[in-house]
Amino acid sequence: MFYSDDLIEEVRSRNDIVDVIGSYVKLQRRGSSYFGLCPFHNEKSPSFSVSPAKQMFYCFGCGAGGNVFTFLMEYENFTFPEALKSLADRAGVDLPEVEYSEEAKKQRDLKSAVLEVNKMAATFFYYQLRAPQGAKAMEYLKNRALSDETMRRFGLGYAGPYSDALYRYLKQKGISDALLKESGLMSVNERQGMYDKFWNRVMFPIMDVNGKVIGFGGRVMGDAKPKYLNSPETIIFDKSRNLYGLHIARTSRKKYLLVCEGYMDVISMHQAGFTNAVASLGTALTSQHASLLKRYTDEVILTYDSDEAGVKAALRAIPLLKAAGIATKVLHMDPYKDPDEFIKARGTEAFEERIAQAENSFLFELSVLERSYDMRDPESKTRFHQAAAAKIAGFELELERENYIEAVAAKYHVSFEGLRRMVMNCLMQGVPARTEQPQVRRQAPKEKDDGIRKSQRLILTWLSEYPQLFATISRYIRPEDFSDELYRKVAGMLYGQMEQGELNPAKITSCFTEPEEQRVVAQLFNTELRVESDAEREKAMKETIYKVVEHGIARKTAELDPTDIAGLQKLVDAKRRLQEIRKLHISL
Ligand code: CTP
Ligand code: MN
Repeated sequence: MFYSDDLIEEVRSRNDIVDVIGSYVKLQRRGSSYFGLCPFHNEKSPSFSVSPAKQMFYCFGCGAGGNVFTFLMEYENFTFPEALKSLADRAGVDLPEVEYSEEAKKQRDLKSAVLEVNKMAATFFYYQLRAPQGAKAMEYLKNRALSDETMRRFGLGYAGPYSDALYRYLKQKGISDALLKESGLMSVNERQGMYDKFWNRVMFPIMDVNGKVIGFGGRVMGDAKPKYLNSPETIIFDKSRNLYGLHIARTSRKKYLLVCEGYMDVISMHQAGFTNAVASLGTALTSQHASLLKRYTDEVILTYDSDEAGVKAALRAIPLLKAAGIATKVLHMDPYKDPDEFIKARGTEAFEERIAQAENSFLFELSVLERSYDMRDPESKTRFHQAAAAKIAGFELELERENYIEAVAAKYHVSFEGLRRMVMNCLMQGVPARTEQPQVRRQAPKEKDDGIRKSQRLILTWLSEYPQLFATISRYIRPEDFSDELYRKVAGMLYGQMEQGELNPAKITSCFTEPEEQRVVAQLFNTELRVESDAEREKAMKETIYKVVEHGIARKTAELDPTDIAGLQKLVDAKRRLQEIRKLHISL
C-alpha cells in the first residue's frame, strides 16, 4: 500500500512524540528536552532523550533514535505500515482503504474467519479448564507446578472427554462445516463425519507474534500416545514461521532469546522469570525461524534437551542461526532432561548460572566431535586436534582464528604454538573458508567514529537547534560536502526545509523506512559537544565549520580529474573561502 508523504506527515504531526513515548516511558523535563530510562537497553541513569522541538528521540547510551514512527517500530516491533496505522487510529486520521483483488480479498476474509474460529475455540477450552468438568486437567497442570497466573498468561485450556463438544459449540455459534474444515480443529471420516480433533487433552493455544491464536497443541494427561497432538498447518498456521512464546518474549528486552524444544519448557522458563524463552512447534528449527529470531535479537542461547536428539537438533540449528547473523551459545542441562525439569529440580538461580556458563557454539560443536575420538589413544587424540585445527582454519578473520586457537588450546590442554602451526598448515593446504559472513553487529555509534563524521553531525545538529546559523553555515558548507550518502541526503533535505523557512527534522526521518537509517538520522540531529559557555560553543562551531570545509576540499582534491579546469577553479575559490572562516564571527 502506498501512502502519500503528506498523509504520513499529517499522521506524524498529529501525534506528539512526548505524549506517545510518555505512555511507555516515564519522562522528566530537563531543559528543552525530556529524559527517561532507555527502553532499548538496560541502564540506571537516564540517557534517553525526547525533544518536543525536533519531535525526535535519541538515546545517548545505545544510539537508538528516530521519530514517533521509529519508536513504535522498535518498541512494538511494528512494520512501518503498522506504526502508521496505529498512530493514525490514535489521532483519528482516516487511512485510505487498501484495494485488494477479488482473490486476495477472499484469502484475507478466510484468514480472518479462521482466526475468529481459533479464538472461539481457545475461549471454549479456557472455560472448560476452569469449570467443574475441568478439575482433573486443572489438577494435572497444578501437579506440574503451574500457577493460575501462568495458566492465564498462556491461555491454557482443556478439551473434555467427548469428541463432539467443540463441534457442537461452534455449530451453535453459526460456524459452517466448510469453515470448520479450514480451521484444523476437526477431523473427518466417512463413518462419523466431522468430529473434534482434540479431546481429553490439556490445550496449549499457539499464538503468533501479535498474540493471535493460530493453532493448538494438546497434551494427554498421562502416558498415552501420542503425547502431543498439534493442529495441522492451515491458511494461518505455518509451523516453520512461528515460534511458541514469541509474542511475550519479543517484549522481554533481554539481549538474547532462549530457544528450547517444548511448550512446557517455554512455560516453565517464563514462570521462573525467563520471559525471553521461545520454542519451535514440534519441528526442527528452520531458516525461516532463524530470520524471524533475527528480527528481535542478535544472540540465541539454545536450551535443548540434553538427550541425543537434543544435541542433534542443536548441531542442526547452529549453522542456520549463524547464516542469519545470530551468535549462538548452548546451555548445558545435564543431569536434567529439559529446562522444565531443571528449573523444577534446581530453581531459578541455578538456571541463571547455567545461562552465564552457556558454551560458545563452536566449542560445543567441537566437544561433540571429540566424542568420536578415543582421547586416551595418542594417535586418535592427534587426529582430533587436527580436525579441530581444520575447523578453526575455516574462520575468515585472523584475529578470530587466534582467539579460537587460544580457547581450544586452553580447553584441551595443548600448546598454543603447536595448535597454531597446525592451523597454519591447514590454511596452506587450502581448506575452504567457511561461507558464513563474519558477524555483522549493530554498532553503537560511538565505535568507529572518525572525528570528521562527528563534526559533520554537529553541523546538522546545530542547524536544527540554531536555525539562525543557516545563512552563515550554508555559505561555506553545501550538502555535497558531507562524506556519507545518507548524510548528504539528510543535509539536502534539511537545507531545502531551511530555505523554505520550515524546520522539521522529524519529517526528514519519515523519508527513511529502515529503522537502521532512522537511527542514523536521529544521531545526525542529536550529536552533543560538551562546552562550558556560549563563548566556548561559538568557538567550537567556528572550528567545526573550518574542519568540515577543509575535509570537503581535501576529498574533492583527491577526486579531481587534473584536466578539469573549472573544477580546479572551484577548489581555489573554496580554499580562499576557507581562510575567511578564520575571521568569521559567530554569535548565538
Ligand atoms: N512434540 C510433538 N508431538 C509429540 C511429541 C512432542 O509435537 N508426539 C513436540 C511438542 O511441541 C513438545 C516438544 O515436541 O513440546 C518436545 O517434546 P518432548 O521433549 O517429548 O516433550 P516435553 O516438552 O518434555 O513435554 P512434557 O514435559 O509435557 O512431557
Ligand atoms: Mn518436559
